[in-house]
Amino acid sequence: MKKVRVGIVGSQFAATLHAESYKRCLWAQIQAVAAIDNLDEFGDKYDIPNRYNDYRRMFEKEDLDLVSVCVPNFLHKEIVLAAVEAGLKNIVCEKPLATNVADGKEMVDRCKENKVKLMYAEDWIFAPALIRAKEIVDEGGIGQLLYIKAKESHSGTHSLYAQKKEYCGGGVMIHLGIHPIAFLPYFAQSEISEIVGMKSTGGQGNLLHKNYTGEDWAGALITLKNGVRGFVESNYITCGGMDDKIEIYGTEGNIHIDLTKGSPLTVYSRPGYGYAIEKADFTHGWTQPAVDEFMSLGYVNEINHFVDCVMNDKEPQKGVRGEDGLKALEATFALYKSSETGMLIKL
Ligand SMILES: NC(=O)c1ccc[n+]([C@@H]2O[C@H](COP(=O)([O-])OP(=O)(O)OC[C@H]3O[C@@H](n4cnc5c(N)ncnc54)[C@H](O)[C@@H]3O)[C@@H](O)[C@H]2O)c1
Repeated sequence: MKKVRVGIVGSQFAATLHAESYKRCLWAQIQAVAAIDNLDEFGDKYDIPNRYNDYRRMFEKEDLDLVSVCVPNFLHKEIVLAAVEAGLKNIVCEKPLATNVADGKEMVDRCKENKVKLMYAEDWIFAPALIRAKEIVDEGGIGQLLYIKAKESHSGTHSLYAQKKEYCGGGVMIHLGIHPIAFLPYFAQSEISEIVGMKSTGGQGNLLHKNYTGEDWAGALITLKNGVRGFVESNYITCGGMDDKIEIYGTEGNIHIDLTKGSPLTVYSRPGYGYAIEKADFTHGWTQPAVDEFMSLGYVNEINHFVDCVMNDKEPQKGVRGEDGLKALEATFALYKSSETGMLIKL
């Protein structure tokens, strides 16, 4: 069977999430990578034959079925549009779709006009624990869905680009909180209709990271069109590793999910060891290392789904279409507007 030929733009953190997942997908092969650093180390690690320091050259030279855009947020639009221009037909774009709503809309529109599949890499949709929770809710296991509380937080971003609002589009809410923001409407099978938010202001107005120009703390209350209520939270003041928690409440029960720290392993180590969970500082003493974050956070299933969409010419499922990325962006900027004006924003 002919494999899906993949090109990755980017060679660091998110590119690794994609590369590890493509490696585990029987129907995909990574044919090329384009990045401005770490090219050989990344290329050697994932056995990628063709390497470029200019993504436009990669698009021109390579016959690619699928491209993964794994670069800082402010480059998403430029690279997606260049891929469309070069005639590529299938694009996976990392979150957030863009750094503002107008750019996101332009990306979605241009892809539609050119019959390009734009797939939005929201990994939460494919996290096994959240898939299982959805099955339980869908079969009526907690009665009628009433309220979802969700957050992603850690101690600060590793990416210098993400620390600056001009490159990131905002602060922690657009960078991490966009996961729960995209997850809520998908899980509740509805759309966000109202949002009221609050955030730190960036710089000296931040709680902890005064050198970040975007906010380091934010939260919002949400109403969905079907009446389900939500609360999303995100911050960069959480020590001890990435903290992704979801609580789902229904008329007849509730579900509590710890996506990042809910490991079946408990380790006590005097010398420490290599890696426990994302953004954890230490591995000595008592720790709960993840068994396989690529799987538990959804990346492996996500990439499998995108490859399947390319191989079998399927539309991406709800929650990971370009327009879902755009909706998440609209809700995020409504939250920002609310926190700046003190108003409840209707979408
Ligand atoms: N889904 C997730 O859980 C998840 C996790 C982390 C990051 N991300 C997203 O992935 C994207 C990348 O984040 P990251 O943490 O890997 O960033 P990073 O700062 O670690 O890496 C940036 C990468 O972009 C490349 N790059 C920069 N400018 C380029 C250019 N002009 N041409 C080609 N390559 C270029 C660099 O070579 C580098 O490999 C961001 O949009 C981020 O929001 C998603």
